[in-house]
Amino acid sequence: MEKSRQARSLKERIKKYVPFLAQIQIYKLVKKTRFLRHKISSKILGKEDIKKAFRQAGLKKNDIVVVHSSLGRIGHVKNGADAVIDAFLEIIGKNGLLIMPAFSALNYDKKRKMHVFDVKKTPTYTGAIPETFRKRENVKRSISPTHSYCAFGRRASEFVRNHENCDNPFAMNGPFGKIYRWNAKIFLIGVDQLANTPLHIVEDKTEFPVKVFTDKFKVLVIDDGKEKIVKARKHLDSLRRHRDPNILEKYCMSYGVMKIHRLGSTELRILNAKDFVHMMEELVRKNITIYHAK
Ligand SMILES: CC(C)(COP(=O)(O)OP(=O)(O)OC[C@H]1O[C@@H](n2cnc3c(N)ncnc32)[C@H](O)[C@@H]1OP(=O)(O)O)[C@@H](O)C(=O)NCCC(=O)NCCS
Repeated sequence: MEKSRQARSLKERIKKYVPFLAQIQIYKLVKKTRFLRHKISSKILGKEDIKKAFRQAGLKKNDIVVVHSSLGRIGHVKNGADAVIDAFLEIIGKNGLLIMPAFSALNYDKKRKMHVFDVKKTPTYTGAIPETFRKRENVKRSISPTHSYCAFGRRASEFVRNHENCDNPFAMNGPFGKIYRWNAKIFLIGVDQLANTPLHIVEDKTEFPVKVFTDKFKVLVIDDGKEKIVKARKHLDSLRRHRDPNILEKYCMSYGVMKIHRLGSTELRILNAKDFVHMMEELVRKNITIYHAK
């Protein structure tokens, strides 16, 4: 925990003082070095090793689980992203539900003068595991040009339903609300609160004290060859400068809503959606949000 806190503060300093293009080069180098180091020095992890770690972290048959992840930080994984996805599916079984972020950058089409979101084709930037999952057969995807989720399992169709009609990406009547109501287990693999998107649920569920959303804008959605216009909102760009989700790490620990386990070379953070959102609501009542941080 202390080690990862120090790494985070170093990252924050790099972000502040190093130009963006240089940051990208540094990140690529770090990634390559990490991959080579894992290949040479660490044990190769197979699906069964991953299943063992997931079970130890409390994953069970029939669970509903939402996963934000970094494949590279786990170590050297035999069969890569597929092994991680299969490990989840084999434990939760056919009545469980596996959910992963298929978030995407807004894609502006100059010809049509509009953002375009293609449910089948628009790729996600949330990593190799969700991108591999998104492309699997029978995986459903919700319609949101910025914060779409993918799901597989018994309630997948029900889960992804209605995102396109929501007031904002994190609305209670869309997939994010279901993560809360269905009390999904949140698995953060090798990532921290920066990747814990359900933390935005309170921005819809409460009288949130900070203005976070833009006005609605039009998006052309292409779904199975059919086109339709939907209206969406996104986060205000100006929030980036004073947003620090990792202030939540200490609250998650002191409120006892997060457990940290190990998976290969990295940490596995586990939260229950209801406990986590209730903690976030309490913080909002105390006027503590991720946007106040300096
Ligand atoms: C950005 C992010 C995905 C980068 O993590 P990463 O581990 O570097 O990248 P991925 O998860 O895509 O994994 C691919 C990397 O794993 C490594 N890799 C490749 N094969 C591998 C294997 N068999 N076993 C282990 N690692 C492997 C490589 O370094 C590869 O990078 P490359 O594609 O550039 O070669 C991660 O830091 C993150 O933030 N994840 C959460 C995203 C999210 O959910 N965000 C929500 C809020 S916006």
